[in-house]
Amino acid sequence: MAKPNWMDPLGQKLLRQLLGLTSFLVAMIVLLSIYIGYFTQPTPWVQQWRASFRSLATNIEEGGGAKPVMEYWQAPDVLAVADSAQRAQLLYGKELVAYTAQYFGPNGKIKAGNTNGLNCQNCHLEAGTKVFGNNYSRVAATYPKLRARSGQVEDVVKRINDCFERSLNGTALTADSPEMQAMAAYIQFLGKEVPKGEKPPGSGFKDLAFLNRALDPVHGEAVYVEKCISCHQVDGQGVIDAAGVYTYPPLWGPLSYNDGAGLYRMSNFAKYVKWNMPQGASHDEAQLTDEEAWDVAAWVNTQPRPSKDLSGDWPDLSKKPYDHPFGPYADGFSEEQHKLGPFGPIKAKLDAMAVAAK
Ligand code: HEC
Ligand code: HEC
Repeated sequence: MAKPNWMDPLGQKLLRQLLGLTSFLVAMIVLLSIYIGYFTQPTPWVQQWRASFRSLATNIEEGGGAKPVMEYWQAPDVLAVADSAQRAQLLYGKELVAYTAQYFGPNGKIKAGNTNGLNCQNCHLEAGTKVFGNNYSRVAATYPKLRARSGQVEDVVKRINDCFERSLNGTALTADSPEMQAMAAYIQFLGKEVPKGEKPPGSGFKDLAFLNRALDPVHGEAVYVEKCISCHQVDGQGVIDAAGVYTYPPLWGPLSYNDGAGLYRMSNFAKYVKWNMPQGASHDEAQLTDEEAWDVAAWVNTQPRPSKDLSGDWPDLSKKPYDHPFGPYADGFSEEQHKLGPFGPIKAKLDAMAVAAK
């Protein structure tokens, strides 16, 4: 056969076919990478590869040498405050965050029955100072802010009362009560050195990859029995001592958070436990696999708990999160999938909708 000449019709046809084939292959590779990146659970070797790639990148950025040490946010010391009245108020705020139930719980000494059996620090660990323990580091720098859940600009007092009404399944405190003032002062003191608008490293929860399947509450129950009942008990009601103080807080039932609480979202629960439970776990020493964290979330969050009127939440449906378990939705996915996943496709759709709306 004669050598094709790119100028003659046969040559042009070959060239077109070649170009077509190349763009098809490129498109397939791109689609496949998006699919793998977004929707599948990375296998351990992919995770390892990503981690070593990341640490290589940081090494290069920092000019190589010693293994980089991540600088996480650290809480300032309340006791170092010189002004004694201010120090006393901050310490009172810290006390209320740490032992909320003793003041407002079923037998609380300020207002009995205002809240359930939980303390703020059961979820905001170490009085809101633990790295990736849902700490308060970014609060001073990011409030007041517009929150999609309420559709309103919320200040710190409103945000604290959200947790009173949802996580503590109770009643809001008045803004000018000494208790609210002390908690708000303490929480904002913790983040006072964070530049306005910034979220310091280690704030909130550490991320967790989606599973490429729906969550499995049956597997979750097995995880619960194996890794949680020693403290939270078979019935999920925790352990209360003779003085009425919880050694281990309840995870469901009438004394737990209600279905409007942040932890009722599967992603928040899974991230919280992955990096903080069983007690002693931390962001660099997780004790659960990703699957265990997600599935135990599904088990706990399908147990009975108080419910709240949520009809005013998420006034803009397109901002409703991928794992908010109550419809209606703007993204077209079912209530069932918002409850148990798989979440990747919903998240991808919501992200695409947000880009299109810009
Ligand atoms: C059952 C767990 C739980 C309890 C108890 C709880 N919270 Fe929260 N709180 C959360 C979760 C989860 C979030 C994050 C919610 C989200 O991002 O969707 C949160 C968020 C907050 C925020 C905003 C943090 C930020 O970075 O934006 C503040 C402030 C707050 N809580 C204060 C309190 C206070 C004060 C108490 C006690 C009166 C309390 N919380 C009790 C779970 C809890
Ligand atoms: C060794 C005891 C222990 C084990 C085991 C344990 N926890 Fe906890 N858990 C605690 C304690 C203590 C707290 C309160 C933390 C604090 O106040 O510092 C807590 C708090 C929690 C909270 C937030 C507060 C609440 O009651 O809603 C959740 C959710 C939770 N644990 C889930 C789990 C899950 C899921 C497991 C099993 C994977 C587990 N825990 C295993 C001791 C334990």
